[in-house]
Amino acid sequence: MDDTTATDVYATARRVLPGGTFGNFPAEVVIREGRGGRVWDEEGREYVDYLLGSGPMLVGHAHPEVTAAAQAQIAKGTTFFANNRLGIELAEAIVEAVPCAEQVRFVSSGSEADLYAMRAARAFTRRDKILKFEGGYHGMSDYSLMSLAPPRSGNFPLPLPDSAGIPKSVRDEVIIAPFNDADAVADLVREHRDELAGVIVEPFQRIIPPLPGFLAALRKITAANGVPLIFDEVVTGFRLAYGGAQEYYGVVPDLCTLGKVIGGGFPLAAIAGKAEIMAHFDKSQVGDANFLVQIGTLSGNPVAAAAGLATLAVLRRPGAYEQLHATGRELMAALGGLLKAAGIAAQISGEPPLFDVVFSAEPVRDYRGTLAGDAGLLRRFNALLRERGILKGESKYYISLAHTPEDVRFTIEAWQSAIKALTA
Ligand SMILES: Cc1ncc(COP(=O)(O)O)c(C=O)c1O
Repeated sequence: MDDTTATDVYATARRVLPGGTFGNFPAEVVIREGRGGRVWDEEGREYVDYLLGSGPMLVGHAHPEVTAAAQAQIAKGTTFFANNRLGIELAEAIVEAVPCAEQVRFVSSGSEADLYAMRAARAFTRRDKILKFEGGYHGMSDYSLMSLAPPRSGNFPLPLPDSAGIPKSVRDEVIIAPFNDADAVADLVREHRDELAGVIVEPFQRIIPPLPGFLAALRKITAANGVPLIFDEVVTGFRLAYGGAQEYYGVVPDLCTLGKVIGGGFPLAAIAGKAEIMAHFDKSQVGDANFLVQIGTLSGNPVAAAAGLATLAVLRRPGAYEQLHATGRELMAALGGLLKAAGIAAQISGEPPLFDVVFSAEPVRDYRGTLAGDAGLLRRFNALLRERGILKGESKYYISLAHTPEDVRFTIEAWQSAIKALTA
């Protein structure tokens, strides 16, 4: 597409989309194509892609095996509503891979998966309140959009809604705790045990790893008080390790949610967990009063399932996670080294498959630690990097199996040049 046509695309976007965007990413970026670890925009500019479609494209864009699997299914029909073999096989692959997963229910997005996981915990315990962590992201439901990104720190455990349009009453059903503070969680769980339906946590919150022992303490506190523990593994599932964060950190929740990687770039997500909680999706097991009705037009979609299965097959190959982690480790070390050499106070926070820099002199252990970072400097750095052919989210580098040594070299050079411009 030439420049004139690209200009038309931007103008149309501004006319027909609020803010000129789908809501996800700045309007000035319109991506035309992706292959492997790279994408091209409508003006033909090439980027090393660390956005990865916000995470799903772990094995790279247009991976030949994923493309072939999806195309083969497309030729045979794209959705049936009824069960299909590929969706059943994907559920089996999840049960085999993910430690807590005895059964699986498919939905189309991570937001929905989190919404239903919380509802399943409520149905199971017949209690209402959910404890979540400040800065923890669990999609876009009314319950999840509490203290995700408060501009100022609130008072624990009171939630601050993140969006207009959320009923005031929802606030009463959500309890907010500080991430990585097991003592605070223990106090809250004990205080609210009779009304607490579940604790939902990103085991690796945004780019903040759990402190040693934090997840184990959560597991112990929730089990001791009869409160289901939900890991939101929409990001970490099949990314930190094949069995997700629960395998990587060695702590098994009661329920988890999955998305992104399991759909291979198509809309598909899941709730997975212990059979006794998943039973609430089955009226024949729990009866009318305890039944959690759950229906979705595209649930278990066979094209998404085909792409997901092909993605998982690539990830099961020997050496896949070693390579992913090695690429990420090299990049993390390089970025940390360059910023240190430039005398810029910075923390490289994350795990090798997913990290970013926080411009702060203090280690980041919770949302308030992120807030302490220099957000303006990060925005400038990201903008300088985009000019130098690096595409990334606001606060994340997603690493792909498709990122090559040449991509790494290109990235390090872009960092060097952007840091020079920052300090000039
Ligand atoms: C941890 C986490 N949970 C849930 C979601 C929501 O997933 P979706 O965008 O598929 O609704 C996201 C999306 O980025 C996420 O990062």
